[in-house]
Amino acid sequence: MFSAQTYQNRRAVLKNNVSGGVLLFPGNIENPVNFEHNPYYFRQDSTFLYYFGIQEPKIAAVIDLDEDKTIIFGDELSIDDIVWMGRQETLKDKSLKSGVQETRPYAELSVYIQKAMTSGRKVHYLPPYQSVNKILLGDLLNIKIAALQPSTEFIQAIVKQRSVKEEQEIVQIEEAINVSNEMHLLAMRMAKPGVKEYEIANAIQHLAADRKCQMSYPPIVTINGGILHNHYRMNTLKSGDLFLNDSGAETAMGYAGDLTRTFPADKKFTTKQKEVYEVVLNAFNNAQQILKPGIRFKDVHLKACLYLTEGLIDLGLMKGNPEDAVKNHAHTLFFQCGLGHMMGLDVHDMEDLGEQYVGYTEQEPKDTKTFGLKSLRLGKAVEAGYVLTVEPGIYIIPELIDMWQAENKNADFINYDKVNEYRDFGGVRVEDDFLITNDGYRLLGNGLIKTVEEIENYRA
Ligand code: GLY
Ligand code: MN
Repeated sequence: MFSAQTYQNRRAVLKNNVSGGVLLFPGNIENPVNFEHNPYYFRQDSTFLYYFGIQEPKIAAVIDLDEDKTIIFGDELSIDDIVWMGRQETLKDKSLKSGVQETRPYAELSVYIQKAMTSGRKVHYLPPYQSVNKILLGDLLNIKIAALQPSTEFIQAIVKQRSVKEEQEIVQIEEAINVSNEMHLLAMRMAKPGVKEYEIANAIQHLAADRKCQMSYPPIVTINGGILHNHYRMNTLKSGDLFLNDSGAETAMGYAGDLTRTFPADKKFTTKQKEVYEVVLNAFNNAQQILKPGIRFKDVHLKACLYLTEGLIDLGLMKGNPEDAVKNHAHTLFFQCGLGHMMGLDVHDMEDLGEQYVGYTEQEPKDTKTFGLKSLRLGKAVEAGYVLTVEPGIYIIPELIDMWQAENKNADFINYDKVNEYRDFGGVRVEDDFLITNDGYRLLGNGLIKTVEEIENYRA
């Protein structure tokens, strides 16, 4: 945990940014795999971690703005629990480390919320994502789950605060990234024809566990890099394959890293692989260079799209005027997603609170319809203290090519004959994590090799 003062300060800021009522923070529970006492790995809710730091299932917190009270609701271990699990630090002591003096039994949460509601006070809550917390909120508030109405004021106050990282959070994030760097170097050493994808995935997870880290998301370790979130890991690498590793560690305190590297199963890139890789790397470098406070991330995304398009025109896969091609979204045949996302306590930071609130503004809302832009998680102007990823890619998806070609879609900008020569190419993505600083940006972590030369030399 950070110091008690940290959590007290964070809560003090939050209290000033919400007008009144009761702020409700249900923590996460241990979800059962196949029966209640055989749970999945427990991960505390990130907003709960941010304001309270306690990694304990089945607790909840309330900040009562009207009565100026902060209470943690949860049950101390019973003697049966202690027989089963051993003695542990009490919830009371954990709460004190979070700067919270008052704890009450979990059952009293519903009494507290009922009382607040009957006295006409507003109960603010966030969009629940765990089924149990949906049920809990429905029960506490006496409404059907479908009728739950998370508090926009509460969401916006949290997004504003969590978006700008404290120095001690940057230290945590860099710790996660540096472990992620090690994971990627290990994958680069292991990957060669004959090795299985799952062997590499297992090894990098083992390394992270040795560093007391979890995964910040299920690793994408694949020879089918054209599939954006491929989780199938049974393939054997063979000569000629491109291998994509999108994986990141999460520190014990919950902070994420998120990196992607792509390289050949063989020691050297083929000419074709190298050409496409250089196009992606060029877009990456140029996008990174324009990061600074005030720049709209949507403009950085579109700039990267332009560089990708220019590169694809040079390779003969696209044609025509690159600006016009991007305006017509022709590049989305190859780059179907967004350039990046916020990162922090979540790999897609605060995505549970809603992309519209985290990545966009009321004046410039998210484009939820246009292919490509609808997958851009961050569009608004960035500020000093934001941590975000830059991750351009080129993804060859045969089904998408067939669909577009059947419709003759964007035929002024796509050389379908040439594109079909790349049908089994797979995909390339390069991803690093950046801090927006007062005058620009800073690459987070110690840096991970990424040029063709660096990768080939490392794997020689
Ligand atoms: N690294 C996974 C993602 O950004 O979606
Ligand atoms: Mn990412």
